[in-house]
Order: sequence, then C-alpha cells, then structure tokens
Amino acid sequence: MKTLNEAFEHTLQDIYWAENALSKALPKVSKAVGNADLKAAFDDHLKETKGHIKTLEKVFKSLGKSASGEKCDAMDGLLKEADGLLEEAEGHALDVSVIGAAQAIEHYEIARYGTLREWAKELGHDEAHALLGTILDEEKAANAKLTALAVEAVNPKGKRKS
Ligand SMILES: [Fe+2]
Repeated sequence: MKTLNEAFEHTLQDIYWAENALSKALPKVSKAVGNADLKAAFDDHLKETKGHIKTLEKVFKSLGKSASGEKCDAMDGLLKEADGLLEEAEGHALDVSVIGAAQAIEHYEIARYGTLREWAKELGHDEAHALLGTILDEEKAANAKLTALAVEAVNPKGKRKS
C-alpha cells in the first residue's frame, strides 16, 4: 500500500469482512441474552448489519470494484472476546457484559466508518462518501441505543427487567 486510494480500498475490504463476521455472530448473541429489550436491539442490529453489507457493496460498485473482504484482526478479536463472555458469564452478568462487548464493536465501527467517510471525501468519491455517512449514522444510533440499555440494565433503581 502506497497511496491513500490503496489504504481506502484496503480498509473497505477490512470493514466488509468485519460486517460479514458480525452478521454471523449476532444471532448467537441474541439467543444468549435474557433481557427482551436487549434481544430486540441485537435482532434490529442484525437487520442493520445486513443493510450495511449491501451498502458497502454499493460503495465498491461506485468505485468500479467488486466487493471483497480481507480478514479484520480487530473484529476477529472483539468477536472472540464476546464469545468468551457468552461461555463465562450467566444471567445479569452476561447481559451487561454483552452490552459492553457490543459497545466496543460499535466504537470500532464508528472509528472505521468515520475514517473511511473522510478518505472518500478527500479522494473525490462523492457517492462513497454519502453511502459511508449513512452507515456511520446508523452505527452511532446503535451505540446510543446500547448506552440507554446499559444505563437501564446496570441501574438497580431503574427499569431493570432481568
Ligand atoms: Fe455495521
């Protein structure tokens, strides 16, 4: 990699792999959590994640490329960590731990999409810039939803449901 364009394409492949890996992991997480609101949040985010994969395919197309992924070590590690929590934690501890793991994943995605969106702008890839901005907004909203669930779930005086 020598140019910004090459770095941009490499990072797109990295996040494309990451979104696909996340979409495969989310059903297991949704099944494991006890809190109904949390389960619904993961089910919603699975639908959004499938949408992000489609949107990324449009980004590749706008660049005249076909979509391809390259293993993302960061997402691989974050998902391994989440998997470990599913095995080690139970009940309320599992729910709150999984929220924490999901927020780490969202923050990672927000960082990546923020970078990609700005690189697209710099490179004059206007369509990619707009598409990446829509995904970034959804990742931020998903993270805000998790924050609200975390506050509700960890506050014993709040509307705790599990
Ligand atoms: Fe996503």
